[in-house]
Amino acid sequence: MSNKAKIAVLVSGGGTNLQALIDAQHSGIISSGEIKLVVSNNEGAYALERAKKANITAVVCNKKVLGSEFEDTLINILEENEIDIIVLAGFMCILSEKFTSHFANRIINVHPSLIPSFCGKGFYGLHVHEAALSYGVKVTGATVHFVNEIPDGGKIIMQKAVYIKEDDTPETLQRRVMEEAEWKILPMAVEKVSKEIKG
Ligand code: GAR
Repeated sequence: MSNKAKIAVLVSGGGTNLQALIDAQHSGIISSGEIKLVVSNNEGAYALERAKKANITAVVCNKKVLGSEFEDTLINILEENEIDIIVLAGFMCILSEKFTSHFANRIINVHPSLIPSFCGKGFYGLHVHEAALSYGVKVTGATVHFVNEIPDGGKIIMQKAVYIKEDDTPETLQRRVMEEAEWKILPMAVEKVSKEIKG
């Protein structure tokens, strides 16, 4: 029997962070854990194609369709698959305290800024980079942290800084923060937590 941490990746969109995790598993950066499951809250997410191509079981759990049953359904899916670590990789749903305490210290999120800047309710995706540019900060980056009941408020696991350029747009900045920070620190943080759980 494998002694690797069983990882579920929760997604909503393009899934480039999921791809970084899949690639890290193939290259050996992630060796203490294994991606067992991808869950999308959006049936049109390209992340589902990425899972399929990598032969990873993928399911849709749609908040709009499931309504008040959403979190219980998600908990059941994760428990049936005996998941140890839940990675939120561009998962655009806020999870309740009931959910986060059920999996305390087992949920990891990647956020595209240096927390505590540009985070919390309303700060997601491109909006984060728009806010950083409109504030005029010269350095931004990405943060990987544990998830608790406070949006983007859990313990920080890893951060990486990215310099802002004079001619950056939200789109160019988003891409550079992904390339230089998110796709690097998310796999490293997932390996670190997998190792700690299984160690
Ligand atoms: C990523 O930049 C991720 O950090 C961000 O959404 C993007 C998803 O891209 N997440 C948040 O803003 C969460 N607050 P992806 O689907 O290509 O990984």
